[in-house]
Amino acid sequence: MQVVGITNQQEVFVVSDKVPFKINQILVINDERQGLLRAEVVETSAYNRFIPLDINGDFVDKSVISSLKALGYSIDDNTLYIAKVRLMVEAEYPIQVGSEVRVPNFDEVKDLLLKSKLESGLVLGIIKSSEELYETMDEELKDKFLLFQDGRIIEQNGVPFIFDIASMQQYPHIGIFGGSGSGKSFGLRVILEELMKKNIPTVVLDPHFEMNFKENQKDVDAKYQYDFKDRFECLEIGKAVGVKFDNLTTRDLINLIGAASAGTLTDSMTNVIEQVHKNRDTYFSFERRLSLLKEAFEIGSEKKIQDRKAKCDDDMDASRFDEMLEVYREFGSLPPQSVNGVLWRLQRLYKDGIFTNDITRVEKCLKEGKLAVVQGPIKLLNVFQLT
Ligand SMILES: Nc1ncnc2c1ncn2[C@@H]1O[C@H](COP(=O)(O)OP(=O)(O)OP(=O)(O)O)[C@@H](O)[C@H]1O
Ligand SMILES: [Mg+2]
Repeated sequence: MQVVGITNQQEVFVVSDKVPFKINQILVINDERQGLLRAEVVETSAYNRFIPLDINGDFVDKSVISSLKALGYSIDDNTLYIAKVRLMVEAEYPIQVGSEVRVPNFDEVKDLLLKSKLESGLVLGIIKSSEELYETMDEELKDKFLLFQDGRIIEQNGVPFIFDIASMQQYPHIGIFGGSGSGKSFGLRVILEELMKKNIPTVVLDPHFEMNFKENQKDVDAKYQYDFKDRFECLEIGKAVGVKFDNLTTRDLINLIGAASAGTLTDSMTNVIEQVHKNRDTYFSFERRLSLLKEAFEIGSEKKIQDRKAKCDDDMDASRFDEMLEVYREFGSLPPQSVNGVLWRLQRLYKDGIFTNDITRVEKCLKEGKLAVVQGPIKLLNVFQLT
């Protein structure tokens, strides 16, 4: 492999008449004056006598073609592979044309590829196009895991990608974005497995019920298996976990009902919650206050409520009308539609089971260094994650 064409300090062309280049592959350039320089393949192509070199719009330019001839390469006899490579660190001078290029030994690029020790980081797979480095790699990094490729399980064939989780301390956010079927969930499962192996307390909100690790290693040699059974728990909202209503502040409750109503909670309804919710309300005390108010609106006026009370002969009912009167006097000026709106949303959440149970089981998981997989419909997860 050799450097060809006009070069500069950042990018050069490299030709090979034997093996094709791989995108993202790392190469070392032996520049006479500047020593070993490391570079990454960013574009590749192949040529032979049926595909003329000067195709319009190609990334290879005239200077490459003429220097190929000068260096003795001929596309009449061979297929030629040409790559554009970008230097890892900008060189001081342009690279010398004709400089020898080769695949590095692992030690020559170790610092670029390994940012963390095997024990301290998350092992997430192999680094793309690092197959040539496998042989010269430290023994302790070899044969650590299996890979799943094109529907088959294959042996590790490259440098492990070790994610330095300690560095997350400074910017603790990751987003994984991609089209449907691009591997987001699959990749996330690998991350979660690694977190479990390290006993790092983790909460997952799992709307698709896909983060179960009970039976994920069938058909794999025992050497590579890891039993996650005691390392995680699946907790369903409304069954194993929920939100403790009594602990909610008025603000919490507004956020919660808001999250469950997907933007349909009006300012007026928010005001109703602010007025009617009291500190230390249970679900039942709050719901009862709203229900009585709703009924009072339906009856129509203080006078009519008193008439009803006078007509009833049951003490229980009578005291209920007293309570209704009290609520009506305090909140009768609120818009009835908004009161109904809040009550309806609240009751729906209750029916979904969000207020049965609390987060004790999640806390227990975390204290034990386990993975808590909270499962439920996305709407309820939105509510749950607020608490
Ligand atoms: N790293 C990988 N190696 C091998 N196969 C993979 C890899 N990632 C994903 N796959 C395959 O692709 C399929 C789809 O991946 P996955 O379910 O993770 O996609 P997704 O991005 O979560 O899609 P969606 O947005 O539809 O949920 C997996 O079932 C798996 O077979
Ligand atoms: Mg998915």
